[in-house]
Amino acid sequence: MKYQFPQGFWWGSASSAPQSEGASMEDGKSATIWDHWFAIEPARFHQRIGPRDTSGFYRRWREDIALLRRLNHNTFRTSISWARLIPQGRGEVNPQAVAFYNNVIDELLAQGVTPFINLFHFDMPLAMQQLGGWENRAVVEAYAAFADVCFQLFGDRVKHWFTFNEPIVPVEGGYLYDFHYPNVVDFKRAAVVAFHTMLAHSLAVRHYRARNQDGEIGIILNLTPSYSRSSDPDDVAAAHRADLLFNRSFLDPALRGRYPQELVRLLGAYGQLPTCRAGDAALLKEGVVDLLGINYYQPRRIKSRESPADPADLFMPEWFFSPYEMPGRKMNPYRGWEIYEKGIYDILTNLRENYANPRCFISENGMGVEDEQRFEQHGQIQDDYRIAFIRQHLQWVHRGIQEGSHCLGYHMWTFIDNWSWCNAYKNRYGFVQLDRASQRRAIKKSGEWFAAVAADNGFAEEDNDGRS
Ligand code: BG6
Repeated sequence: MKYQFPQGFWWGSASSAPQSEGASMEDGKSATIWDHWFAIEPARFHQRIGPRDTSGFYRRWREDIALLRRLNHNTFRTSISWARLIPQGRGEVNPQAVAFYNNVIDELLAQGVTPFINLFHFDMPLAMQQLGGWENRAVVEAYAAFADVCFQLFGDRVKHWFTFNEPIVPVEGGYLYDFHYPNVVDFKRAAVVAFHTMLAHSLAVRHYRARNQDGEIGIILNLTPSYSRSSDPDDVAAAHRADLLFNRSFLDPALRGRYPQELVRLLGAYGQLPTCRAGDAALLKEGVVDLLGINYYQPRRIKSRESPADPADLFMPEWFFSPYEMPGRKMNPYRGWEIYEKGIYDILTNLRENYANPRCFISENGMGVEDEQRFEQHGQIQDDYRIAFIRQHLQWVHRGIQEGSHCLGYHMWTFIDNWSWCNAYKNRYGFVQLDRASQRRAIKKSGEWFAAVAADNGFAEEDNDGRS
């Protein structure tokens, strides 16, 4: 059997400005929260490698785009750095940044690779964080103005825009679980950040539509389907609440233009709701997307709590459920994430059955592996595990499409080994190997496999190399 994908299927990969550009304090770019956090707490970063030290896309964009072509990408997602384009967060536009992004967009198009451009990938300009970041509505306005500048400058050529990548991650990392700056642990503030992010999203969508640029605008969400340990009603209720908190908190506003009433009631009962102003509900309605990007890495397994939370403790999502370690689960031990391929199909099915089958695509899926050089033979990384990972996920995507899901493409995380936040270069994700010292690039076996799949628009079931 051949897994044949619909004509025009998007084959590509995703990246982001802060993880690939480097030159993080050059040519007029100002500091983001990552530059700042690394400057004050370098020990929080694996081997003390910070955001200056990336695969250098800022200088090597032409070479990298040639590699995208060799990988047979027809689409590629990266982001525009707010702190590079508008160094103070609002006001003056940096002409060097405009020239850089124009070069990248023009070269992608010249190579037949359609650019997908995202506007925020965890990289809050420090100047904006100093005003309170997403807690401050002035930053919401500033972000929307930045987005509008991007539409004005690049919207003649960029036809697929995304307001945010995984907007829940800065909420979790920065305001709940201490893995992003500003390292706050406070649910109520986290809820404000989440709400204001969606207002910022909606305002950007409003600006985009006002320009009538003949393109589409979406958002990229990391969806983690919640599976309950058992059919016991307590486990099921716990999984349902985890789903409300971690998926529907962004999915519902993005696809329905409003929050689930149940979530509002739940947070209201604990005094954790952000303040809503006149006009907010109407604005959220305008934020319903044209296209949803789905990042899928792992499921969320849930059981009910053994005892109720102590009201004297800090209010946290875990008041409502406990994480469940399913015996026999398949793990990616390097990243500590479960691999559950069917999850990608369950997401597509949920979208089809409960959200009117939106236009969507897999915007990230991937596998970070430590010490990959041990798999090198004759100068090439033999990452058969990555090929198996992609193939098994794609089989489920294929099934979802056959059953009617409106899934338009598959993007891998990521094109070239890149800087992974606090994990820096611990785990490698790329189709292309990066030698950090020499900056030499070499296509891995998975890159060749993927190029063949993209050229064929599918792959045969039994063929280990993916070639028909
Ligand atoms: C996604 C992000 O969460 O997963 C990427 O959009 C990130 O920015 C990727 O790099 C892999 O996760 P990590 O934490 O291993 O880098």
